[in-house]
Amino acid sequence: PKGGKLLVLPGDHIGPEVVTEALKVLDIIEEYSGAKFERDFDLCGGSSLDKHKDSVTEEVLKKCENVDAVFFGSAGGPEWGTSQPNPESGLLRIRHRMQIFANMRPCNFASKSMVRRSPIKEGIIRGVDFMLIRENCGGAYYGNKIEEEDYGCDPWEYRRSEIERVVRVAGALAMQHDPPLTVWSADKANVLASSRVWRRIAHEVFDKEFPEVTLRDQLADSLAMLFITKPTAFNGVIVTDNTFGDILSDESGPPAAPGHKPTLGANSAGGVIGLYEPVHGSAPDISGKGLANPVAQVLSLAMMLRYSFNMHEEADLIEKAIANVLDSKEDGGLEVRTGDLGGKAGTREMSEAIQGEVKKLLQAR
Ligand code: NAD
Ligand code: IPM
Ligand code: MN
Repeated sequence: PKGGKLLVLPGDHIGPEVVTEALKVLDIIEEYSGAKFERDFDLCGGSSLDKHKDSVTEEVLKKCENVDAVFFGSAGGPEWGTSQPNPESGLLRIRHRMQIFANMRPCNFASKSMVRRSPIKEGIIRGVDFMLIRENCGGAYYGNKIEEEDYGCDPWEYRRSEIERVVRVAGALAMQHDPPLTVWSADKANVLASSRVWRRIAHEVFDKEFPEVTLRDQLADSLAMLFITKPTAFNGVIVTDNTFGDILSDESGPPAAPGHKPTLGANSAGGVIGLYEPVHGSAPDISGKGLANPVAQVLSLAMMLRYSFNMHEEADLIEKAIANVLDSKEDGGLEVRTGDLGGKAGTREMSEAIQGEVKKLLQAR
């Protein structure tokens, strides 16, 4: 029987607004597929700080270990600030506790109109199709941080085992294609010792375990530039460090194409279990107004169905439904878009259009 147990952590600001809408899509999938998803809701982020004085409790961390997937909204907001523990630290602790080390941030969304509407010229971004794999448990994000009145330090460390396991995910993904995809490893080996170790070990792993896959090195700063001028050059797989991956995925996160706001970026992280969340944050500037675009959260749901529950057909169908909603009328779409995409729709209207389209495609199966 398909389905399983979910822990839903909506988080702060627009997190709960878009998670609610995404779960309505899950209701529809349940109705048509017979799959059943048990859902437990809990707190992480600012809401947890307010109630428990901590960004995530031990009880919630334990719950994460006992479900099939964690469905996350977003955490953070100006009212909590940055002093530790801040809301975001709850998310970081979940990633580390679960050893969710390979964070997949795709850039390949098949909506013609969105490609045309990108701030980057259509001819440059048409056909962009890559998976950015961000290392998610190491680098500058973790380790022995020092925070004093006049001194701050984030050791940027990588150990062999941490590099090997994440570059292997990239190699395995490349091998799922015939011929295998090219893999780019983005680093700053010209400056950082951790990058030089990363680069050397990545090549050792590929030489030994993935001899058919071409592994190419790319400095992360020039990759950021090439994402804008020649993004299709990176079609395939990109594997990179935690910090570089955070920044590069906000630049490329939208599956539509680089240049859009990250409101179309789905996000999935694999380790022992999956954690699914949008690339964008809690958008405190628009929360409570019914304006948030639910697409990235719904696309994260699609990734959850695909990677944690093996429901590929349903995942493809949701992505198709979203493309139909976003596409312009001349492309045969519904042209329903929220403000971030230049439209007039609110969260509810956008969500209802997606739900309607999902139902239509499910009925047509
Ligand atoms: P953000 O992604 O929240 O917002 C950036 C801009 O994009 C804002 O103008 C916002 O209104 C807009 N935007 C984002 N998501 C949108 C959506 N779904 N629909 C329409 N517009 C949307 O980034 P930020 O402002 O840098 O960060 C805000 C807070 O979110 C911070 O506290 C940050 O730490 C947190 N954050 C959390 C996560 C997470 O929990 N996964 C990820 C990123 C940022
Ligand atoms: C992301 C976010 C997080 C990160 C923050 C909220 C901790 O920006 O998921 O991209 O930096 O990893
Ligand atoms: Mn980010």
